[in-house]
This record gives sequence, C-alpha cells and structure tokens, in this order.
Amino acid sequence: MSFANKVILITGASSGIGAHAAVHLSKKGANIALVGRNIERLNKISDQIKNANAPTPLVIRADIVTDAERIINETVNHFGKLDVLINNAAILSRNTVAHIELAEYDRIMRTNVRSVIELTKLAVPHIEKTKGNILNVSSIAGFRVRPNSLAYSISKAAVNQLTKSAALDLAQKGVRVNAICPALIRTPIFETGENMSSQDAEEFFESCKKLYPVGRIGECSDTSAAIEFLIGDSASFITGSLFLVDGGGLLLHKL
Ligand SMILES: NC(=O)c1ccc[n+]([C@@H]2O[C@H](COP(=O)([O-])OP(=O)(O)OC[C@H]3O[C@@H](n4cnc5c(N)ncnc54)[C@H](OP(=O)(O)O)[C@@H]3O)[C@@H](O)[C@H]2O)c1
Repeated sequence: MSFANKVILITGASSGIGAHAAVHLSKKGANIALVGRNIERLNKISDQIKNANAPTPLVIRADIVTDAERIINETVNHFGKLDVLINNAAILSRNTVAHIELAEYDRIMRTNVRSVIELTKLAVPHIEKTKGNILNVSSIAGFRVRPNSLAYSISKAAVNQLTKSAALDLAQKGVRVNAICPALIRTPIFETGENMSSQDAEEFFESCKKLYPVGRIGECSDTSAAIEFLIGDSASFITGSLFLVDGGGLLLHKL
C-alpha cells in the first residue's frame, strides 16, 4: 500500500518495532517524524531511510513523558499536517506487587500510558482534519500476565482500554484508533529493560520458539505488516481493534 504524502509520527522510532516500522513505511512513501531520546540511534534510522531514497524524515529528539506538546507541534510545523500517530514507545521492567517501588510504578505508567493519552489528546485536532488514525503498540501482556510483570501488564491493559475508549469517542469524527498486541518480538527491549546480554537475549528467544504454534517468535517485519494494514485505507471499517500479532501463542495458554 502506498503512503505517499501521508505524515506519520512514530514514538520510539530509534529501536526495535518503531524503527522497523519507520523504515518500512518510509519506503512506502510516508513522511515520518522519528521520536526518541537517543539521537545517535535516531540519526542512524534517519540515514537508513535517506539511503533508501525514501522521503527525508524529521528527527525529533524528545522524551514522550515531558515533551508531548513539542513533539506534535514540531511535526505539524514541519510537514503541515498529521495523518497517523503511532504510539509505540514504552519501557519494560520487572516487579511484583510485594516488592514494587511506587516510583517505579509511576515511571512505567507515565511512559506507557499517561504520555500516550497526552500525545493522543494533542494529536486529535490535527488527525480530525486529515481523517487519519491512531495506532497504539500494546502487548499480549494486556490480556495475559506473566511472573514479575506487574506494572508492565497493568500499563498494557490500560492501553487496550484506552484504545477502545478512544475509538468509540472518535469514530464520529472520522478518526480510527486501533492497537496491535504483539507477543515476543525480536528487539533490544530485553537488553534495555531486563539488562540481558545480547547472548542471553538470543538464548531466551531460542527457548521461546516452542511456546508458539507457528514454531517461531515474532520479527519486526511481522509487526510492521500489521501496522501497515491497520493504518491503511483498506482497514477503514476497523476501529477499536486489539489486533493480535502472536503466532497463535495466546491459544496455547503457555505464554
Ligand atoms: N519486543 C517485544 O517482545 C514486544 C512485545 C509486545 C509489545 N511490545 C511493545 O512494542 C513497543 C516497542 O518495543 P520494542 O520491543 O521495539 O522496544 P525497544 O527496542 O526497547 O524500543 C523502545 C523504544 O521506545 C523509546 N522510548 C522509551 N521511553 C521513551 C521516552 N520516555 N521517550 C521517548 N522514547 C522512548 C526508545 O527510544 P529511546 O531509548 O531513544 O528514548 C525506543 O525507541 C513497546 O510498546 C513494547 O511494549 C514489544
């Protein structure tokens, strides 16, 4: 599908799922605003896009917790409009109800939920004008808990309800809101969020393959394909969807 002349803002575009989606959608003609805190990694993704002769992206070094207004304003000032907001940035941390520091709970909820609400609220007036849409990157953790995952699971359950609530409230304005809910996707999140070495992360990915009926874990190309479909015009009858990208994993009750 072509996204020529579409303006797409992607948070967490410096790594993993967001970075892959940025490159993928750029190659389909989209003008992308790349948001993240790590400028070196953002510039690397920007160079990858430019080297593919795709439309030059806008790099916005920003923290979604504190800079939501600047993120939306810089995007609209630069490109003149906003068609799609992809709320992808989030952080992972391990905690149980018996041991969680409330400051840690607040950090997760501010990043994974509050900032999504704020960015969405600020983006809606612009997306109403373009009859565009919003895509949240949630997780199967919003449906199913795993050990040591209290705050992250709560945050993703909240993103699921936020997606449905926003979809209902914005439908009559012509704005769709959907989420993808991935299972395990091969990205650096376990190295950054759980302090795994890259070798431990690879061993973890390998050991998880058997949990999935399809016999493999997910790749960023799987999430990009789902995102492309949901934000595109062929999904015009789809809103409020929590779209599983999980290789059938939830069917087995093992995850
Ligand atoms: N990988 C999986 O198995 C999996 C499964 C289900 C759902 N997900 C979800 O997929 C999304 C992307 O995860 P990923 O696996 O691609 O993780 P990742 O590789 O660690 O990327 C996370 C991205 O979020 C950005 N980010 C985090 N906090 C930020 C902040 N305060 N302000 C701005 N940017 C921030 C990071 O950028 P900077 O460091 O540059 O700020 C980075 O670009 C998340 O919502 C995650 O919950 C992942």
